[in-house]
Amino acid sequence: MKLPRLLVLFLTLAATALASKDKPVIGLSLDTLKEERWQRDRDTFTAEVLKLGATVIVQSANSDDTRQVRDVESLISRGVDVLVIVPHNGSAMSRAVKSANEAKIPVIAYDRLILNANIDYYLTFDNVKVGEAQGGYAAAHLPKDHKARVVRIYGAPTDNNAKLFKEGQDNILAPLIKAGTIEVVHEDWALDWKPENAKKIMNAAITKAGRNIDLVVVSNDGTAGGAIQALMEEGLGGKVIVTGQDADLAACQRILRGTQAMTVYKPLKDLAALAARVAVDVAKGRKPTTAATLDNGLKQVPSLFERVISVDKENMMSTVVADGFHKAEELK
Ligand code: BGC
Repeated sequence: MKLPRLLVLFLTLAATALASKDKPVIGLSLDTLKEERWQRDRDTFTAEVLKLGATVIVQSANSDDTRQVRDVESLISRGVDVLVIVPHNGSAMSRAVKSANEAKIPVIAYDRLILNANIDYYLTFDNVKVGEAQGGYAAAHLPKDHKARVVRIYGAPTDNNAKLFKEGQDNILAPLIKAGTIEVVHEDWALDWKPENAKKIMNAAITKAGRNIDLVVVSNDGTAGGAIQALMEEGLGGKVIVTGQDADLAACQRILRGTQAMTVYKPLKDLAALAARVAVDVAKGRKPTTAATLDNGLKQVPSLFERVISVDKENMMSTVVADGFHKAEELK
């Protein structure tokens, strides 16, 4: 039997539409792959999406807003069903979200919030708790015999998370500053979270405030590495308490060696698996439920927060290693 050409065309189109629903394509747009964590995020997210019968197209923008907007536009034109975005700049990315909205492609902000934009979900860790863990560690390790002299190195001012980490640190440190228990001798923001920028800030702190510094509250491990390099060059390695975040391999090694005091472990596999489930559900037209919302300036965004864990040399084995994040032998 010969089917009319129009019917064949219709059946082909219908089959394609059904197939794309069955095997959704998720577009993942990353700010960068420079820090170790984002490579792990990408790999775990991709593996989880594949397990759920969908596929992923990944783009990474090398910390460049123009490039990331272009990446997102190219994912849109390739017809992805859902976009998952880690924005370099939480404000600049709203332009790309507008294009996604026009193309009716749902958008999930991953780890970092996109501001003033019509996004569908925000999946992240409890970022204020990260800052509280850093501030809390500092507060628990103040010198007993003098007012603590503290340097504060914040993250990238373009990353909304950097502000949340500072907010968490402030929750703990502000009362101590007010009470005169600690003195902040220098503070600054490390542009683009670059270790070399953190190193410059640490050098400036030593030039300005001298070598007697007790604590350096740093917001992540990459920038902690930069600060520690500056301390080492001054012969201060291991003599100053330095905080971090991400449980990067190099940071965990530094903690065991004593040049960094703590990090905040964020089980990336939990966030990546959650994001994969939500992305595939949304692609299939389902509406995942969320317990919380977060204001991004335009709307209350349905949000989910994963737990974070404060890690120092005492609990490294029972957290990061027990969870399979790093192997004990890699940490030596
Ligand atoms: C992430 C941190 C990361 C930092 C630099 C933040 O938004 O939450 O885990 O260290 O960006 O990439």
